Amino acid sequence: MNKPMAGLLNSNDIIDRVFEHIDNGTTDLGETVWKEPVDHYDSRLRFDQEIALLRRRPVVFCPSALIPEAGSFVSRTAAGTPLLVVRDNDLQVRAFINACRHRGMKVASGEGCTRTFSCPYHGWTYNLDGSLRGVPGAAAFPGLEQETAGLKELFAVEKGGLVYVQQEGTPQLETLDTALDFFEPSQQVFHQSHTIDEANWKLLTETLLEGYHIKSLHRESFYPFGLDNVNVVESFGQNSRVVYPFKRIEKLRSMPRDEWAIEGFATLVYHLFPNVSVAVLSKHTSVTIIEPLSPSRTQMFSYFVKHSANKGVEISLEEAIRDVDFVNQSGQEEDRAAARDIQETVTTSANSHLTFGYYEKAIVSFHQQLHRELGDA
Ligand code: FES
Ligand SMILES: [Fe+2]
Repeated sequence: MNKPMAGLLNSNDIIDRVFEHIDNGTTDLGETVWKEPVDHYDSRLRFDQEIALLRRRPVVFCPSALIPEAGSFVSRTAAGTPLLVVRDNDLQVRAFINACRHRGMKVASGEGCTRTFSCPYHGWTYNLDGSLRGVPGAAAFPGLEQETAGLKELFAVEKGGLVYVQQEGTPQLETLDTALDFFEPSQQVFHQSHTIDEANWKLLTETLLEGYHIKSLHRESFYPFGLDNVNVVESFGQNSRVVYPFKRIEKLRSMPRDEWAIEGFATLVYHLFPNVSVAVLSKHTSVTIIEPLSPSRTQMFSYFVKHSANKGVEISLEEAIRDVDFVNQSGQEEDRAAARDIQETVTTSANSHLTFGYYEKAIVSFHQQLHRELGDA
C-alpha cells in the first residue's frame, strides 16, 4: 500500500484500528440488519434484472496485465454476452461482441496473441481494430460493405490496471470515479483459475465480505493464521473494502510505527460493485469476476497478478504461487461449498429471507446498492 487511496484508511490507521479491536474485543459494525428475500437467489426475473445491470455499467473484465501487447486478446462470456477484448496496434484496449458478421460464429476462443482474427467457419478475417479485413470468395456477397461489416464494438476503458467493459448504453464513467490504482504496467498475470459452482453469484460474493465465519467455517484452514471476526470495513463509492488481519499482526506492536506496513499482516479484499473482488495478499493480488450464468450457477474467473517486491525485496514466482495455493487449497473451497449448500436451502420453506447482521456490514452495503440500482422499493 505505497500510495494512500482516496477516502480509505492508510496502512498505519488500519493497524491502529485492528489493535484497538483486539484490545477491546470488538470489530467494525454496521448499523442495519438486512433481510434479503430467498427468491432473489433463485428467480429468473431477478437474474435478468441483474444481467441487465451488469450490461449497462462498466464492469471489470480482466487485469490490463493479461493483455500486455498489441494483439493480446481474451475471449469469454460476460453477463451472457460472448466478448472479445483485444489490445490493438495503437495499444488501445477494444471490446467486441465475439460474433462473426457472416453467420455469427465466434471468431476467437480462449486467449492469446494474434495479428488478425480469422473466423473458423468460413474464414472471414478481422483486424485488431475489429474492421473486416478479408472475405474468401467475396463475389458471392454482392453489396457487402466492408466498412460496416466489422465486429460489433462495445465501450472499453482501462483504469488503475484493470480493463472495464460496458455492453449497453452511454458510458457510465462516473462509476469509475472511485476506481483505485491496483497495478503497475510492469506486473504480470502468472496464474488463473475458472471455476463453476451451482450457486447464485450473490451467495459466492457474500462469502468474501465478512470475517464473522473465520473460526467456524475455516477452523483448520484460515483460523490458525487469521483473526476471527476482527475486521476493518469501509465503503468507497458503491464499493467496499474489508481487511482480514492475520494473528501475526501482533508483531508490529514492538516495531517502530514508521516501519509498519499492512502487507503480509492482513488480506485486503476490495469489492468492486457489483460482481468483482480484488484481494491483496502479501505476494500477489487476485482479481475475481463473479460471472452469473443462471440464477443458480456461477463461474468465477480469477486472475493472479504477482507483486514485484515487498519492502524492496524482489518476490519470486515460486513465492507467489505458494501464496495462491495457500488460499485456494484451504479456505476458498470451504467458502464455495458453503455457497453451494445455501443454494439448496433457498428454494425450501425454511427461510423467507437470509439475514445479515452488524458483523456483515459490507454485505448489507452490497445489497443496499443492488436494491437501489434495480429500483426496489
Ligand atoms: S460464420 Fe464466420 S466466416 Fe462464416
Ligand atoms: Fe471464507
